[in-house]
Amino acid sequence: MSVGRAGSLIRELERFRDGSATPASRRIASIYGDAQATAQCGRYRALLARWLELFPDERAVQVYRAPGRVNLLGEHTDYNGLPVLPMAIQRDLLLVCASRTDSQVCIRNVSEEFPAREFKLEFPLSPYEAGDWGNYCKASYQALSGLPAARETALAGMSAVVSGDIPPGAGLSSSTALVVLTATAALGLHGVDIGKKSLAGVLATGEHYVGTRGGGMDQTVSLLAEREHALLVNFVPLEARPISLPGAFAFVAAHSLVEARKSGKARLAYNTRPAECRLAVAVVNHALAHIAPAAAPLELLGGLCSPEGRKLTRDPQQFLDTVFPHEHYTVEMLAGVLAIPPAEIRSRFLGDGDAGIPEPEGGFPLKKRCRHQLTEWSRVERAPGILMQGDAEGFGLLMNESHSSCAQDYEISCPELDELVRVARDAGALGSRLTGAGFGGCTVSMVIREGLAGFLLHLEEDYYCGRPATGEAGSKGYSGAPVEKLIVCEPSAGACRVF
Ligand code: GLA
Repeated sequence: MSVGRAGSLIRELERFRDGSATPASRRIASIYGDAQATAQCGRYRALLARWLELFPDERAVQVYRAPGRVNLLGEHTDYNGLPVLPMAIQRDLLLVCASRTDSQVCIRNVSEEFPAREFKLEFPLSPYEAGDWGNYCKASYQALSGLPAARETALAGMSAVVSGDIPPGAGLSSSTALVVLTATAALGLHGVDIGKKSLAGVLATGEHYVGTRGGGMDQTVSLLAEREHALLVNFVPLEARPISLPGAFAFVAAHSLVEARKSGKARLAYNTRPAECRLAVAVVNHALAHIAPAAAPLELLGGLCSPEGRKLTRDPQQFLDTVFPHEHYTVEMLAGVLAIPPAEIRSRFLGDGDAGIPEPEGGFPLKKRCRHQLTEWSRVERAPGILMQGDAEGFGLLMNESHSSCAQDYEISCPELDELVRVARDAGALGSRLTGAGFGGCTVSMVIREGLAGFLLHLEEDYYCGRPATGEAGSKGYSGAPVEKLIVCEPSAGACRVF
């Protein structure tokens, strides 16, 4: 693909508006489908026009996209190396860019919510203040700086303009889309191809730069997704398999109206879960030394996927009762069980940047956290077979069970998400659950397409009518800006260069 000029791309896209298909419009239709081509061509045209206003001297441009996602099953399992089943959505971020030679990144966003950011590629890159959108771009470059293949070329810098239609703070992975988009463009602009799978691995940990200790689900699906499919992702080693979805059903993301920004309060709530899982691994290893002395110690709970681990967890309840004689573990108790001083428990397992993970009153509920991991793993394992048989009801049941487990055992739901799930099921959803990190954000529901209009109306009337949006005090985005409530999600392809 040769480098194009913004002006000529705009003219091609305009010709499409007047009725003639052009190479540019055909390219867009190949990504979004014919039905979406007109609207999507309009988005690209507007972005390119903005580019011309902001960078009038730059002629040679490239254009990239990276999608958001909804997760259908496998919540908070990725950082334990357990599988997930997300799908990329058509909502995406777009970026038009040109390369520079001065190691400077000048990035603009068409939305005024996100001010212009410029930084020099001198490593390590010091982050902007927490919550700044520029940190997601810096996270990409910081991650790429560790790659010999990228070091010399991709780090030459770029000028870029970004626009997007993934609502921020909704749990649909807009921030990861920005990480993926920046990295894909930074590499593509200089012809560096390290393969999407290795890039997913690099960016999964690269995003820890912003402070959330996520796994690799969002990056992997934003990169590797295929149109009309969900993606079954295994992490050890990273493998992604497209899974076809029953065409008669649609997936609807519904916003609870509770904001869930990764950079805000949700960050500590989120990071507490991986910390609890690290503690659970230590307790499991302690027990294994007694009940299965020949078994290799686990590094992650996902180690239970090994043939040996599968034998031990065949009866999950018995495994949990044996390994966790208590429901809750205080730091004091853990120090006794693991024979490690309390201060070391805190430093080894409960670090979260400067703050540290506070100990909840009564201790960490490790048994139920581990139960969520085991039951969620089993649901993800059963899902492809159920989907292959076209058993939509069976899949809906897995989604419903997953929500109960997320709410009761993993405690990542909130009253609004629970209520929204209840309303969605009343409105005819075969399955409905929270999606993503939780603590607010969206639910995802599986709905028969024929009943879609009625379903959306039911949610408007029974959930949204008269309900205000709530966000963190002072956070941007909820300052009166209307929140997009309902998004019908079509399974989309992963990140790519468009032009
Ligand atoms: C966030 C993280 C992911 C994953 C989900 C929960 O989106 O970025 O890695 O842990 O939460 O499943």
